Amino acid sequence: MAGVSTSGPAIETILLEERRYEPPPDFAAQANATPDIYDQDFEQFWETEGRERVTWFQDFEKLYEWELPYAKWYVGGQLNVTYNCVDRHVEAGNGDKVAYHWEGEPEDERRTITFADLQRDVVRFANALKKLGVGKGTPVGIYMGMVPELPVAMLACARLGAPHTVVFGGFSADSLSGRLNDMECELLITQNEGLRNGAAVPLKQNADEALDDSPGVKQAIVYRRTGGDVQMKDGRDLWWHDVVEGESDDPSSCPCEPMDAEDLLYLLYTSGTTAKPKGIVHTTAGYLVGVATTHHYIFDIKPDSVYWCAADIGWVTGHSYIVYGPLCNGTTGVIYEGVPNYPDKDRWWQIIERYKVDILYTAPTAIRTHMKWGPEYAEKHDLSSLRLLGTVGEPINPEAWVWYREHIGADRTPVVDTWWQTETGMILINPLPGVTTLKPGSATKPFPGIDAAVYDEQGNEVGPGGGGYLVLRRPWPAMLRGIYKDDERYRETYWSRFEGVYFAGDGARIDEDGDFWLLGRVDDVMNVSGHRISTIEVESALVDHQKVAEAAVCGRKDERTGQAIVAYVTLKGGDEGSIDMLEELRNHVATKIGPIAKPANIVFTPELPKTRSGKIMRRLLRDVAENRALGDTTTLADPAVVEEIKERASTESAQED
Ligand code: WTA
Repeated sequence: MAGVSTSGPAIETILLEERRYEPPPDFAAQANATPDIYDQDFEQFWETEGRERVTWFQDFEKLYEWELPYAKWYVGGQLNVTYNCVDRHVEAGNGDKVAYHWEGEPEDERRTITFADLQRDVVRFANALKKLGVGKGTPVGIYMGMVPELPVAMLACARLGAPHTVVFGGFSADSLSGRLNDMECELLITQNEGLRNGAAVPLKQNADEALDDSPGVKQAIVYRRTGGDVQMKDGRDLWWHDVVEGESDDPSSCPCEPMDAEDLLYLLYTSGTTAKPKGIVHTTAGYLVGVATTHHYIFDIKPDSVYWCAADIGWVTGHSYIVYGPLCNGTTGVIYEGVPNYPDKDRWWQIIERYKVDILYTAPTAIRTHMKWGPEYAEKHDLSSLRLLGTVGEPINPEAWVWYREHIGADRTPVVDTWWQTETGMILINPLPGVTTLKPGSATKPFPGIDAAVYDEQGNEVGPGGGGYLVLRRPWPAMLRGIYKDDERYRETYWSRFEGVYFAGDGARIDEDGDFWLLGRVDDVMNVSGHRISTIEVESALVDHQKVAEAAVCGRKDERTGQAIVAYVTLKGGDEGSIDMLEELRNHVATKIGPIAKPANIVFTPELPKTRSGKIMRRLLRDVAENRALGDTTTLADPAVVEEIKERASTESAQED
């Protein structure tokens, strides 16, 4: 048995955050989750949820089987995801309920899609796919923007039992063909053009390039989103509107395929430490129960909720919490096609006001962007419908958390910081909004039934106050069922670091109350004079300064201290920065964390290099810090940013000398 470590903690944590937010009594009184949820036996909990959240064609015989590192859940059960997400709501008389309010990026384009509409669209499209030879087990690629036809395509595949892989519309042709080939997709669903920031995104043109390298894809279906012209290849490409023409929308014309609990639902590719993306495997029953259950309790979903997850469906957050979880729960959702500052920086707040959104789920990077723009954009709109806010994707610095609560949530709404991964499928560490005392920057407690812990280098459990590596010690329903066609890499990446437990690759610490603080990826941990310091803690301290809009921190080699801390800082209001400011910030970090965490140098920059999903690319910042040639920059949202930073970094160090 793992004991409590007596050797030093694997990651030292120094930043203390002392603000606390109790659940508001009126929220607690009506909440889906009550404190006794934590007292339930783990098996009992998932057994009950399995029966309550999902409709089965055939009941399961056994809750789970665990042959490390592979789990099976709801063994022997049969069901269909689309039946659960669409048909059963219509059968229950909720056909008129809105499934999605869709906002196009152009301000005058809107669609309201009820569950009955969604069923008709899915059935017609599934009939069309069937005619093209798609059936149970046919792998299908999907490469689209944020249009309603994207969930329709996913649900049509799931209806037929055809596993899909959705490739984020911001990825390049190379990324797309790599994924299509790895999954051996036979058909691709795409669209002529996407719309982003007022400009057209050439999806079909990228797809054409990708298909040149993906000979296994015999057919492409193209949804016409814009008037833009694209080339259609004879014998391969078909228009969406042509293939659905004349197809029946009667659900009995295309029954939902009964699927085994463990049949493949989808692959989603995620990048790791090597160049080749990993095809993360998600199956049917455990995934659906996991996402529906967490969605219900963590977001406190009510029958009349209008829930908006502002992620892209191309990422796991969109799969689990725009499409499968919310639809399984029969929830009304919002889908927005474009960027938050089109045509102006108040677009999000306009959307919340228009649809009276009560739950907003987004990423810290988006919150910091809004913070940088200033609260006046939110102030122009009535956001009083909001009841609950959520974040996901990276550690949230306490200042952004508090800003979100104060300026978006009127200092009234709980904020749930949810930790999970593409691999975990569902949220695993999170507050429950009617139960948990919130601490800005902490994802708080493992979800009921989840056994999370923090280990040191040697695999000993670290006690309260100490930092180390986040591990999961028990299987959970939505967990990945492996890396597609790569058993060895699956075992190596997740199950070899410590024996018998899942290694998440994240640093974490547990405080005296048993609350978890995520410290970023383990490779985002710096070692300065033998002290391990998480980049996020230094970033939080920097962003805590009133002049700082955004900060990214990384380590560079240093002869004296092992590693030295380099900070890249964007100041509010376009301020350029100065030597005085640099000193002020170094001292600020010293007072917030301690002199050990003082950045050795600070580079002021108008933008940070980010991926199109909004993650800061620290790898590139490390390259700049170490004066190395830049690694792969193809996933950058704006490759010019990093050149600019390089230039500033060299003039900055010249100043230092
Ligand atoms: C990070 C996104 C801190 C973490 C759902 C994880 C977080 C990686 C949080 C997975 C959070 C996600 N606090 N860190 N609340 N949520 N992360 O696969 O490093 O895109 O390992 O899944 O994001 O990213 P992925």
